[in-house]
Amino acid sequence: MAANLEQAVEHYRGLAPRYDHYTRRINGIRERAIAALQLRSGDTVVDAGCGTGWCLPRLARAVGAGGRVLAFDPSPEMLEVARSRPRESAAAIDLIRSSAEDVVLPARADAILFSYTHDLIRSPRALANLFRQVKPGARVAATSTKLYAPWLFPANWYLRVTHRAYITNFDGFETPWSVLATLLDDFRVETSGRTQHYVATGRVRPQEA
Ligand SMILES: C[S@@+](CC[C@H](N)C(=O)[O-])C[C@H]1O[C@@H](n2cnc3c(N)ncnc32)[C@H](O)[C@@H]1O
Repeated sequence: MAANLEQAVEHYRGLAPRYDHYTRRINGIRERAIAALQLRSGDTVVDAGCGTGWCLPRLARAVGAGGRVLAFDPSPEMLEVARSRPRESAAAIDLIRSSAEDVVLPARADAILFSYTHDLIRSPRALANLFRQVKPGARVAATSTKLYAPWLFPANWYLRVTHRAYITNFDGFETPWSVLATLLDDFRVETSGRTQHYVATGRVRPQEA
């Protein structure tokens, strides 16, 4: 089943003002994914499907005054919250309204963050569009929810029900990173059957000319 962009935009229309509160329990794992990017001063980093921009101040701090954050999302309401966030760092922040399938990035990035963007990392077309626009070897970190081991089926049922508002394509919910695993070099995933969390990392494979 393919993700449904229109459905996602519709879901986030009403959710945007309350989104940060509803998702506060994942702040720790978002921090872990940002740390996994090993950002350096002056880097350019992409926040793919940035939503309300919870990660933006953290990314901006990590790349510093000479750095740049390229953040995009198709939801105008989510971007509006991101735009209103206080700027705590001198890093340049570009907020772009677009899907990952169509986004045109204004600069070649050193790193890409996928924070709770299940629909997006299941889309080979979205990933191909992004990966052809970043530097060869760009660092990638992805985190979101995955299913527990099959014997924890009551917990998995609960996850499927509670994630209907955030995910339109449950394909690959056991191993959301499986498409990334085929596209990235040095791919690694930290997780276990007893958790709903994971952090996957790797590097964008240099594209053939
Ligand atoms: C669960 S939110 C995550 C937001 C943010 N990254 C975070 O950590 O809170 C998922 C976001 O992905 C966006 N999204 C959905 N489909 C997308 C696509 N095809 N391309 C880019 N963003 C997409 C939604 O609009 C939404 O803001």
